[in-house]
Amino acid sequence: MARLLFACSLLLLLLFQTSNSKATNRCGNRTFSDPFSLDSDPFNFGKSLYTLHCEKNTSTVLYLDSRKYYVQAINYNNLTIRVVDAGVQKNDCSSLPDFSLTYASLGNSRSAYRMFSFKSTSSLHYTPYTWFQYKRTGPKWFPNYKPLSLSQMMIFINCANPVNSRLYLDTGACLNGAKYSNVSLSIHSYVRVGGMKSSDLMELCSLERMTLLPVKDYKNMSFKEIHSLLEYGFELSWHSSRCGLCANGCYIEDWNRTRCIGFSTLEKTGGKDSVS
Ligand SMILES: *[C@@H]1O[C@H](CO)[C@@H](O)[C@H](O)[C@H]1NC(C)=O
Ligand SMILES: *[C@@H]1O[C@H](CO)[C@@H](O)[C@H](O)[C@H]1NC(C)=O
Ligand SMILES: *[C@@H]1O[C@H](CO)[C@@H](O)[C@H](O)[C@H]1NC(C)=O
Ligand SMILES: *[C@@H]1O[C@H](CO)[C@@H](O)[C@H](O)[C@H]1NC(C)=O
Ligand SMILES: *[C@@H]1O[C@H](CO)[C@@H](O)[C@H](O)[C@H]1NC(C)=O
Ligand SMILES: *[C@@H]1O[C@H](CO)[C@@H](O)[C@H](O)[C@H]1NC(C)=O
Repeated sequence: MARLLFACSLLLLLLFQTSNSKATNRCGNRTFSDPFSLDSDPFNFGKSLYTLHCEKNTSTVLYLDSRKYYVQAINYNNLTIRVVDAGVQKNDCSSLPDFSLTYASLGNSRSAYRMFSFKSTSSLHYTPYTWFQYKRTGPKWFPNYKPLSLSQMMIFINCANPVNSRLYLDTGACLNGAKYSNVSLSIHSYVRVGGMKSSDLMELCSLERMTLLPVKDYKNMSFKEIHSLLEYGFELSWHSSRCGLCANGCYIEDWNRTRCIGFSTLEKTGGKDSVS
């Protein structure tokens, strides 16, 4: 048995060395460390949840629920990855995210938190990317765990009639008229930053698509300014990759360290981003 184990670890060691020497963990001038790997890596096994794709040796692509995002940055200290929806183009405020959800999945923040969940065929339910990280608050002997949102929802809404509501931000010339004039002369396009209750949906309006934005105060921003933040992209956390043995999930202790959430009160994640 011991001999078998030894042989196995030797084999693993060899495999890792080979994969390192081939430097297939590189896309353009960007290199990847654990848990990330590229799908072109022949030794990409076991970590397939964190597989990225290298496009023309220039852009790194992350597919989430088979939607395409361009990777802008990976941070190994705070365990985040920043991505831009592939539909969003720089300096073109009429370019929209490809990412689109149905109304049902927007119902509440709880289901939205599961947006990037991965249902494996085994009994293990694993969410490789989340848009929040748990932080510990309160004293060590009576800890509290608070979800810190890294990103927030933004919803595109089309209405048959003009809407005058503080909940809806007019997209102005970016999405009204011009480019879409043939189809949408009678369509009025709005966005809503933050979550939405079904009662916030005005008559003759429909939800078109949803995406995520960095957490910020968007109160006085124009749609153009908001679009430039879409171009910057939003952060997701990949801390789950470090939480394998934690039954109740885990929190970020300090910098790049994660710890299992213990016996204590866990603040609810639901309802956080309903209309403020
Ligand atoms: C990819 O780009 C990097 C940086 O520009 C370069 O060093 C590397 O040789 C390129 N790799 C391939 C396979 O073209
Ligand atoms: C990688 O290359 C891009 C484009 O040439 C450049 O903008 C970026 O700063 C480079 N990043 C690093 C880490 O060198
Ligand atoms: C974790 O953070 C420490 C302190 O910033 C740093 O020295 C270390 O390289 C980091 N480890 C990883 C795996 O990124
Ligand atoms: C993670 O680090 C990056 C780079 O320093 C920073 O831009 C980002 O805001 C950080 N995110 C969190 C959640 O701390
Ligand atoms: C509107 O115009 C665009 C570009 O000319 C075209 O691709 C699209 O099919 C048109 N839509 C309709 C409904 O006519
Ligand atoms: C938004 O603009 C209004 C009016 O110009 C101003 O009173 C308010 O302080 C601004 N709010 C923020 C968050 O900048």
